[in-house]
Parts: sequence; structure tokens; C-alpha cells
Amino acid sequence: MCGIIGYIGDKKAVSIVLEGLKKLEYRGYDSAGIACLIDEKIKIIKCKGKIKNLETLVDEQLNSSTIAIGHTRWATHGKPSDENAHPHCSGGIVLVHNGIIENYAELKRELKKDGYKFISETDTEVIVHLIRKYRDKLPFEEAVRKAVSKLKGSYALVIMDEREPDRLIGVRMESPLVIGILNGEKFIASDIPAFLSYCNRVIFLDDGEIASLKKSEVRIYNFQGKEKKKNPVTINWTASMAEKGGFKHFMLKEIYEQPRALADTIRGRILPDGSRVVFKEWGLKEEEMEKFKKIYLVACGTSYHACLIGKYMIENIAKIPVEVDIASEFRYRNIPFQEDSLFIAISQSGETADTLAALRFAKKYGIKTLAICNVLGSTASREADAVFYTHSGPEIGVASTKAFTCQISALYILTLAFAQLKGTLQKDLFHKFIKDLLHLPTLAEEVLKLDDKIQILAKEVYRKPNFLYLGRGPAYPVALEGALKLKEISYIHAEGYAAGEMKHGPIALVEEGFPVVFVVSSDQYLEKTISNMEEIKARDGLIITVSDSKDEKLNRISDRFIYVEGINSYLNTILFTIPLQLLAYYVALLRGCDVDQPRNLAKSVTVE
Ligand code: AGP
Repeated sequence: MCGIIGYIGDKKAVSIVLEGLKKLEYRGYDSAGIACLIDEKIKIIKCKGKIKNLETLVDEQLNSSTIAIGHTRWATHGKPSDENAHPHCSGGIVLVHNGIIENYAELKRELKKDGYKFISETDTEVIVHLIRKYRDKLPFEEAVRKAVSKLKGSYALVIMDEREPDRLIGVRMESPLVIGILNGEKFIASDIPAFLSYCNRVIFLDDGEIASLKKSEVRIYNFQGKEKKKNPVTINWTASMAEKGGFKHFMLKEIYEQPRALADTIRGRILPDGSRVVFKEWGLKEEEMEKFKKIYLVACGTSYHACLIGKYMIENIAKIPVEVDIASEFRYRNIPFQEDSLFIAISQSGETADTLAALRFAKKYGIKTLAICNVLGSTASREADAVFYTHSGPEIGVASTKAFTCQISALYILTLAFAQLKGTLQKDLFHKFIKDLLHLPTLAEEVLKLDDKIQILAKEVYRKPNFLYLGRGPAYPVALEGALKLKEISYIHAEGYAAGEMKHGPIALVEEGFPVVFVVSSDQYLEKTISNMEEIKARDGLIITVSDSKDEKLNRISDRFIYVEGINSYLNTILFTIPLQLLAYYVALLRGCDVDQPRNLAKSVTVE
């Protein structure tokens, strides 16, 4: 998964592209490069390593160019190296690519037979030779169309041609590509933050679309050459929302943005008088929602943990059976789908390959689909029959935080919508659950005041080699998420488990000082969880508790107690997650880890 950006206009294209790449580093950062045209000749600078290495190669002469393309890479084919870095060129054609060409090996063999020389190990290089091969006989746009018709796989391309120095071409197939529109200037990138500080009027390309950009022209057509009319949309993300806003890392900024993100996600989904849920914008009709007899919740990673929480909500409140699965498993199952099922894909990016494949799998069986997604116009949001946008704003840190808690709030709202239609909740409880939701952002603000206390705790435990996170009921997926946060940014081995499962194996790990984080709601699971804590105590484990309970036994047995003012056991999952996000962040910081760009990870995994 990589970041790509192109610019054409009257300004210093190389500087604009360089700045854009910095905003895309979370998409991949093992090598980077830029190409521009000067006096109708291609100039390329590229190297292994982060953008700051590339920056040292930019000389003033390159800034005379007004057209440029750039790329920051997360390697899939060919190790990170100068030769494998993008852009790649061939005979006056130069391009950058995000995605995977599945049939590149056979194309490479054919091109080599035609005498083309390859200097990289990438799949991308076959594309540029293929375009060059057709360009020798066809106009630029047609050569591109003919070349991409040979490709199998996923690709977002931005292409320049020395013979058409006033044009950029973009191609989209299963990898995101968005166009930024200003008078006399055009941007094209894999993600909005790349050019958001310049413009917020955008057009999202769909799969199978090609954009031909001049500084004062945008033409979009399909792979068969048929022109398509697409209207721009205005993105209400300010540039600062995509910047760090004064925080040390995007992740900390995004943890602190959660009260606002939750408020924005709730906004407009509950009638102003708090009486009912409003859901017509999602695209699910009332009569459809009343009929659903089974719901599938499918996602990857942190979004999968949101699915697990959603299961407790929907089954307990809306009384609809829910099946949760990891997308990479779901898509290969032989499922006897039931009539009147709803498939819900949850994805922050809306571009996760496995989740998209699971969505397409469900659609193939005629199942109604809903995407819960954070990126307007992302593939999942456009391929699902209906979409519920979380409005958490751009999530740049690779470790998902605000998007996750907003996903939970979205599932809670969806649950209340079902309960409202099916009449599965007494009125007063329904109104209490709505009131709790409207109060949630305020309580999330309160939880953030635990920051100093969490920093002290982090200093005590950051050298621990292993952690166990335990919880019961809706708190169990919170334990899974707390463990994932810690392991993915601090590289400490951490496991999340259902507390009731501890005696079936994990307790063997516990010895003196072994840290066990318990997530405990003051609900029907409290007593049982306290007995689990006693088993840890008996083995001198270090008990760290996150809870809204004031039970004195709980307090007494905990070595470290983080009290969180709670609301109900469903929304407590959001409030309990925040201290665990902060704990992971400060532990990772103390261990000198790259919090926003953890090793081996990418923000959205657009490859299988
Ligand atoms: C979250 O912290 C991880 N970076 C990762 O597990 C992520 O949740 C997963 O890749 C799914 O991404 P998505 O929500 O964009 O589909």
C-alpha cells in the first residue's frame, strides 16, 4: 500500500508533490521518489528510506517544473531499494503505482521477448513498458487504455508523457485515487490529506475509470473510452485536521479528538429532541430493516474488535442474531446464507482488500450490504448498498483510535434504530440509551484527564516483556483491542483473552509481577471477573484495572486502579478503550518506537 500524488498547474510542482508525500507517509514509507518534466524531458529523483532522504536530492533547478508526480512506498514486490522505488520510466513515459499486478510475471516475460530491459524487481515496471510499447503507435490516452486492459490486479496509476507535457493521466482499479480541483491547477492522489492544504473540492474516481488532467481541464472516461460526468464534492476537513495540530504524534492527536469525533458521528443521527434515531441517510429502507433476521459483522484488525462489541449490542438490545467473522476467513467460507440477512463491513479506510473481498462475496449472494466507514467516497462506501459514515475525520496514525470508538458509536446507533423499528426496548430504556449516547462525548472528555495517571503507570510497566488483557461480555473485545494497541506500536507481546478463558491456558503465563490488565464494567460480569482477579493475585501477578465500578473488593485487589465514570456496559467499551490507547501510546513512546508509523504496518492494507 503506497502513497501517490500528482500536480499540474503554475506553481513549483516538485515542492507541492514533496509536501504531499510527507502527508502520505503513513501509507507507506520504505522508499520514495518524484518525477517532473523540464523542457519536455523527464527528471527523476528517488531513493530508499523516508521522504526526508528524498528531500536531500531535490535541487532548485527541479522547481522550474509545473508538472510532477510522486510516490512513497510500502513494498509488496521487490525489497525497498533505490531501483525498486517509484517512479518508473520507459521511453518518455513515467509513472507511479499503488496496488499489485497479479499477472506481472507473464507480462514481464512477453515484454522481455520484445526487447524491453527491466532494472527493478517491481510489478510496476511492466506497466510503464506496456504503455510505452503502445504509445509508439497510439496517442497517450489510448496507449494507457490499451495497456491497462492487459493488467490483472489492483492499481492506482498517475502517468506523465514527455510528448504531452501538459497532461497527467490517472487510472483507478481497486486502489483509491482522488482528484483535487482548483482553477488552473489540478491534483491527483491516493488520499485527500496529500493536497488538502491547497484544495477541498474533489472528485473520487471509481474502479475502471481514467482521468485525463490538464491544468484547466478534467476529463473522466471508462476503460472503453466512454466519457463520464462526475460532480466534485467538498470535503469539510480543514488542513489542520490532517496535520498534527500541536500534538507530538498523529496518534495522540487522534486519541484527543475522540470527544469531537464521537459528537460528529452522533450528530444528525438522533432527532434534536432526543426522541428517535434518524437513519434515512444510510440508504437502508425502514421496511428492509424491519425484515432482517440475521446480521453478519465482518472486518479486519481493530475494526473486527468493533464487530465483536456490535454483536453484544445488537443481540441484547435489538434481539437479532449476529455472526461476526474476520474478513480474510469470511471470504473463503461456504456459507448457507439465510434470507433477509444484512452484511455489515466495518472499515476505517474503506480500502482493506480482505474486507472489500468479503463485501463483494456477500453481494454475489444477493445479501443486502452496509458499510460502516470513515472515508467519504472510499471503495467500500461506494460498493455497499448503504453506508454509515463515521465522522471521525482523517485518521493518520497507523494504529486506529478515534475511528474505532466512532465505529462502536455507529453500531450503537444502528442497534437503537433496529430496536426503534422492532420495538424490542421499553420506551424508558430506549430513551435512557439515547440520553447516554448524547452524554458520551462529555464523558470521553473526562477520561482524557487520566492522561497524567496513565503516564505514571506507563513508566512503571514499559519494560515488561509480556502483557495479558482480560475482560468479560462487551469488555472482552476491549481487552482484545487494548492488547492489539500495545503490541502494534510498542512491539511488546500482548494477548487479549476472555477472562473466563484464563483457566484454560493463559494463567500458565502468570508469575510474580506479570502484568494483567482487567477491563471491568459494573454489570453482571463484575463478580465473575473479581474471582478471575483473585486467581491472578494468588500468583503475584500485577493487576491493572480499568473500571467504572466503585466496588471496594475490586479496588482492594487491584494493584493499579484506573477509575472511569461509566454510562452503560455498551458505551463503557468506548470509555474503557481510551485509557488503554493512552497506555499503549506512552509505553511505545518510552520504548522509543515510531508511534505513528510502526514497523511492518501500513495504515490501510489494500493488498491480500
Ligand atoms: C488498527 O490499529 C490496525 N492498524 C489494523 O488492525 C486495522 O484496524 C485493520 O487493518 C483494518 O483497517 P480498516 O479499518 O481500514 O479496514
